[in-house]
Formats: sequence, C-alpha cells, structure tokens
Amino acid sequence: MVGRALIFRGEATFAHSKIEIRNSTMIVVVTGASQGIGQAIAEAFADRDGAQIVLAARSADALESVAASYRDHGGEALVVPTDVTDDEAVAEMADTVQSEWGVPDVLVNNAGLFRHAPLDELTLDGFREQLDVNLTGTFAVTQAFLPAMRKRGTGHLFFMGSVASIQTYPGNAGYCAAKHGVRGLARVVREETKDEGLRVTTVLPGATYTPTWDGVDLPEERFMPPEDIARSIVDAYHLSDRTVLEELVLRPQAGDV
Ligand SMILES: NC(=O)c1ccc[n+]([C@@H]2O[C@H](COP(=O)([O-])OP(=O)(O)OC[C@H]3O[C@@H](n4cnc5c(N)ncnc54)[C@H](OP(=O)(O)O)[C@@H]3O)[C@@H](O)[C@H]2O)c1
Repeated sequence: MVGRALIFRGEATFAHSKIEIRNSTMIVVVTGASQGIGQAIAEAFADRDGAQIVLAARSADALESVAASYRDHGGEALVVPTDVTDDEAVAEMADTVQSEWGVPDVLVNNAGLFRHAPLDELTLDGFREQLDVNLTGTFAVTQAFLPAMRKRGTGHLFFMGSVASIQTYPGNAGYCAAKHGVRGLARVVREETKDEGLRVTTVLPGATYTPTWDGVDLPEERFMPPEDIARSIVDAYHLSDRTVLEELVLRPQAGDV
C-alpha cells in the first residue's frame, strides 16, 4: 500500500555527515531508503547535489525519521511508503512523485532482502520472496518510471546488485538467483536505452555494514561502510554524459567475509 506522501522542508544534520543543501531541481528516487545503503545514498545525493529526494520503503516511520533530517538545512524529501512487491503501490508511488515533483533525474533501485538458507532448508516461499523483492520489485519500479525518463531523454538508473550477481555462495540460492537476475535486467535496460540519453549502472557490493548483518559475529572493520557505496554511486552520476560506469564492483579490503 502507499501511505501519505509528505514533503519536508528545513534543516538537517545527517547521522553520517553534516550537509548544506543547495537549491536544486534534481530529483532522486531511492527505494529501500529507510536504512542501510539506501539511506546513505539518499544522504550522499543530498550532500553533494542538494537533490530533492524521494524516499521509498515499507516503513513510514523509518522513512519519516530519515526525511526529518532534511528540515534544518532547507532540503526537500518526499516520503512515499511503498512495498515494491505491490504492483498497484508502485504505480501509485510513481504517479505521486511525478505529479508532486516531476520526472526523476536519478532512480536508485536499492530495495532488497537477504535470507540465508541452505538448499534443503530454503522453502519455495522463501525463494519467491527474495525474487519478488530484489528482482521483480526492481523491474516494477523501473517500469513505472522508465517511460517518462525515456520521453525526456535524460536520467541515470542505478540497479543494486551484489557480488552475489557475479559469484555464488552456499546458502544463498534465492539471493544469488535474484541478484544474478538484477544484473541481467540492468544490462538489458542499458542495451535498450543507450541511444536514448539514459545511463544505467549496476552496483555490485560485497559485505557492507548495515542492519542486514545484525547478529553476525564479525567486527565492523571487516565490512565496507555504506557511505563508500553511496559515494561511488554519486561519483558515477557525476561522470560526463559521454561516459557511463556500467558496473561497479566493491569489496571489503580484506575480501569477502
Ligand atoms: N549490506 C550488504 O552487505 C549488501 C551487499 C551487497 C548488496 N546489498 C544490497 O544493497 C541493498 C540494500 O541493502 P542493505 O544492506 O542496506 O539492507 P537493509 O539494511 O536490510 O535495508 C533494506 C532496505 O530495503 C527496504 N525493503 C525491504 N523490503 C522491501 C519491500 N518489499 N518494499 C520496499 N522496500 C523494501 C527496507 O525497508 P522496509 O523494511 O521498511 O521496507 C530497507 O530500507 C539491497 O538490495 C541488498 O541486497 C547489500
């Protein structure tokens, strides 16, 4: 379901950085923006570009708390609680964004779900759930925004894959299948839109320190900080229009955990 869309304007101090939001008409949509890598991406675009940020995920409370951090610096955040597996909600979210603000300059398909289960423990529902959120949800959100971005002829789409898009890990059947699919989807979007002024980047991070890893007995230092993933995405956006960073592989310095 889609909840109410709220526009916040004001000052903010983000948890990870102090920002000064400049006037901008750049619109950035981030799914899975309520925590972790998605929150860091939203903050990085706000910090670097003073972008207007659309925050989407299921939890309205968590999104509102991320959005509230914009108030003190005069930034604008549009909170659109959305489950990416709900087709109607996704369509409604895209309508809300485009009627409130317009066509996004950047779409970050980041919402994702990971469940560890060896094959003999992975249920059909558990497999489907990971495909639905990571892959089908990404397709639905892309399909909801792509026609308008194509029509305008500019924009950058980011797809959140994983090292599990290019490598396989035991206990990751659902996740690896979904993330391999995300990479395939992104590459097709790239091929179909490269002559239309759109840029497509697939992001393939390894272990990144977010709530996904809660309960895992490893030191924080063994993981990448989500801010590094976010900074790489913003850097990719800022390349000249003549260049696209098609794929971005990031790993902890010491390798996979
Ligand atoms: N952390 C890592 O090590 C790592 C490595 C490689 C790739 N990734 C990928 O990076 C992305 C973000 O990961 P993360 O570690 O930041 O995860 P996280 O902390 O678990 O955050 C996941 C985000 O996705 C949202 N989400 C989950 N299900 C959703 C749904 N059905 N509809 C809309 N939003 C949904 C969550 O919000 P709600 O629960 O409120 O909906 C949350 O905002 C994912 O695609 C993940 O696969 C992560």
